[in-house]
Amino acid sequence: CGIVGYSGDKSIHSVLLVGLIRLEYRGYDSAGIAAIDQGELEIRKEKGKIKALEDYLKLHPVNGHIGIGHTRWATHGEPSRGNAHPHVDGSRKIAVVHNGIIENYMHLRHELTKKGHLFHTETDTEVIPHLLEEELKTHGTLEKAIPAAVAKLEGKFACAILYEKDPERIYFIKDGSPLIYGKGKNEGFLASDIMAIIPQAKEQCIIKDGQWGWMTRDEFHLFEKDGSPVDVHLEHIKLTVEDLEKGPYDHFMLKEIFEQPDVFRRIIEARMDEKGKVRFPEMEMSNDVLGRVGRILITSAGTSWHAGLVGKLYFEKFARIATDVDLSSEFRYRNPIAEGDTMVIGISQSGETADTLAGILEAKSKFCRVLSFVNRVDSTIARDSDAFINLMAGPEIGVASTKAYTAQLLNMLFFSLYMSGIRWITQKEEREAIFEEIRKLPVKIESILARAEEIRHWAREYIGARDFIFLGRYYNHPTALEGALKLKEISYIHASGYAGGEFKHGPIALIDENIPVVCIAPKTEVYDKMVSNIQEVKARKGKILAICTEGDTMVPDLADHYFHIPAAPDFLTPLLTVIPLQLLAYYAAIERGCEPDQPRNLAKSVTVE
Ligand code: G6P
Repeated sequence: CGIVGYSGDKSIHSVLLVGLIRLEYRGYDSAGIAAIDQGELEIRKEKGKIKALEDYLKLHPVNGHIGIGHTRWATHGEPSRGNAHPHVDGSRKIAVVHNGIIENYMHLRHELTKKGHLFHTETDTEVIPHLLEEELKTHGTLEKAIPAAVAKLEGKFACAILYEKDPERIYFIKDGSPLIYGKGKNEGFLASDIMAIIPQAKEQCIIKDGQWGWMTRDEFHLFEKDGSPVDVHLEHIKLTVEDLEKGPYDHFMLKEIFEQPDVFRRIIEARMDEKGKVRFPEMEMSNDVLGRVGRILITSAGTSWHAGLVGKLYFEKFARIATDVDLSSEFRYRNPIAEGDTMVIGISQSGETADTLAGILEAKSKFCRVLSFVNRVDSTIARDSDAFINLMAGPEIGVASTKAYTAQLLNMLFFSLYMSGIRWITQKEEREAIFEEIRKLPVKIESILARAEEIRHWAREYIGARDFIFLGRYYNHPTALEGALKLKEISYIHASGYAGGEFKHGPIALIDENIPVVCIAPKTEVYDKMVSNIQEVKARKGKILAICTEGDTMVPDLADHYFHIPAAPDFLTPLLTVIPLQLLAYYAAIERGCEPDQPRNLAKSVTVE
């Protein structure tokens, strides 16, 4: 979900719509705005994407210079105009937009109903304006009512609040979901994500958990839970608007796939020094602590979980540290065994995934050190970890993660080399030889991207396929899982990824002449085993789409289609093999008329459990 708030000279609906469009990648099943129009609180909302709200606003315009907006990813209550935010109190004077979840909303709703409040939606959010209305009866002003209401809320929230009787101010509360204040020239903004408010907002203040306050066009007042005022320091915003535009590409996803060579160059430049050493200047964890790590537990979700599976192989190979990988949503509930020398690594592009956050907090309660790999250094996960590593992929807007995934792999590879240095496992010369290979990656990726059309042909040929299978082994088993996830999430073709060796234990039963099987078979130490898999598929008349190494003749002979990648050491192959699979997913979506940047039912950042 996304929140935006504005007070200034510009027309309210246009500022809020631009902000909401920028936040649309975070949820897009319904949207709405509230504004003070000639002294009255006006609400407009609509089911569907922001475009639907825009059309609705043309028919039912709203004017004014102060307002709040929201784009929703449904948790409680189906996507509908009624369940869309803003939500109002009984007197329709207070409007609230909310990200997060109110865990005790049933209880609050029950209590408020007993006091005569009527509820019209199925959302947890609706209790907030009603609670404020109730607290106003006792406390008189919103400034006093807010802390009293917040004390009764359980869960995670970031809210912007508009009150008809206080028409110059936007109030806000924050506990567990991100919220930022932005200051422009004679205008003020609120947003759940900085992307909504640049370039107009020039300076920002990241609001912390438990804080609340209010803003006008030129004032910003922040308080702690107990009401004490906070000394506000605004920081300059570095992100530029070019970072958020598609440029010559049709979709963000394609732009982000094609950005990967430059992302790699940036990471390589930052991480490697000439003396065979790896640098992580932002990571505030001493070598003393890192040197004592006896075990690593990785917790992450979705694509970041796949990255964790590759990370395990790197940590075990280079740093010789036993590593387990868990889905965040499982890790947090299974009371993992984690002693003092266990380091927990959270991997999260957004830095906001609720399950991953809960996992690292659980780990901290067990006195483990927590290191996170995040693409947003101002995120909750970065802040709540003992230290973080910046993925440096740049803003990723396409819902299907691409460049953040390869940035996760590359940074974990560097971190495993860093750890191996601390533990005296690799020598300088050995690391230098690995660096040499890593330096070649950007050009190799470019050579793959230059042949994107070949993959487009695959997508065209198999446009009617109902199922896809992806097979890979060792370093490319996670690639198979990731290839399948990418394809299903944006083209809606059912796809599953399997470890090549597991194929004969069940999935092989699926094979017939209609099933395309993507076999990831670069020249590595498991190459022969992958060739056996290809033979097995061929014997059952499955269609073979192979990813193999340049110069290989055996696999192209067996395959119905093949795509070659440049030769690379085994451990670098997952950084290359995944690129054609990202392209396959993208082109499959395009050929089937699906919207790759905003696939149905998904959201970029899932801040609920
Ligand atoms: C969502 C996104 C996925 C992403 C996952 C984990 O489900 O749609 O693309 O991989 O969250 O997100 P994170 O930000 O923690 O990496």
